[in-house]
Amino acid sequence: MKVIVIGATGILGKALVNALRKQNGMQILTASRTGNTDLTVDIAEAAQIRKMFNQAGPVDAVICTAGSCAVVPLDRLSEDDLYTGIKSKMIGQINLVLIGKDYLNEGGSFTLTSGFLSDDPMPGGINYAMANGAIDNFVLAASIELKNRIRINAVSPGWVPDQYAGVGTSHLPGQLPVSIDSVVHAYYKSAFGFLTGQVFRVWEESTQWVRK
Ligand SMILES: NC(=O)c1ccc[n+]([C@@H]2O[C@H](COP(=O)([O-])OP(=O)(O)OC[C@H]3O[C@@H](n4cnc5c(N)ncnc54)[C@H](OP(=O)(O)O)[C@@H]3O)[C@@H](O)[C@H]2O)c1
Repeated sequence: MKVIVIGATGILGKALVNALRKQNGMQILTASRTGNTDLTVDIAEAAQIRKMFNQAGPVDAVICTAGSCAVVPLDRLSEDDLYTGIKSKMIGQINLVLIGKDYLNEGGSFTLTSGFLSDDPMPGGINYAMANGAIDNFVLAASIELKNRIRINAVSPGWVPDQYAGVGTSHLPGQLPVSIDSVVHAYYKSAFGFLTGQVFRVWEESTQWVRK
């Protein structure tokens, strides 16, 4: 199995790569903008995505744990702020699929990352909520059109302890973090299991809310 992990130097990406490296028969190609990774890519730039896939050659799974958004409260939020997440987390991940589908082996998979803020928002998180919601809807719609038995899912993580420790409880009163192992497990199931068109919501169920 040849797998590209984009965002491999981040909190989630690092934990995922460590777990995948323990599996037999995995060839992992790591990618980020600036890290010490096998491939260098800014997913906000389509030309760089194309270059990354040309360097990698055919792959079996593409997992993206990259993409950022602006954190700005509504009363100061500008159109340009919104484009931060649209260019990076939203179109960046979508372009990974639009460009990457021609490099995926038959039966391969895409796993994108959204996040709980689209269902259970926090102040300043509008750009994340928009991008996450777009990714969740994109995977559902794209799943019915992808050819060659290619699957696509999103993982929607809750806050993992590293992140939680950095920010504390003040932004999200009453919420508990979710274990990073559970999030890693969801990426694994998405990439190598059987389901397609799904959003794997990995939250601490007692404290985070699923919008009805
Ligand atoms: N951690 C959590 O608790 C949590 C919860 C919910 C959702 N999420 C979502 O999960 C994703 C990963 O979170 P994280 O906490 O692991 O983030 P992180 O620690 O900030 O890591 C982000 C990773 O992505 C890379 N990256 C960022 N922008 C990129 C771009 N435009 N092109 C290519 N690589 C890029 C970073 O490396 P470079 O900067 O070198 O490019 C880094 O490897 C994010 O979308 C986040 O919103 C995380």
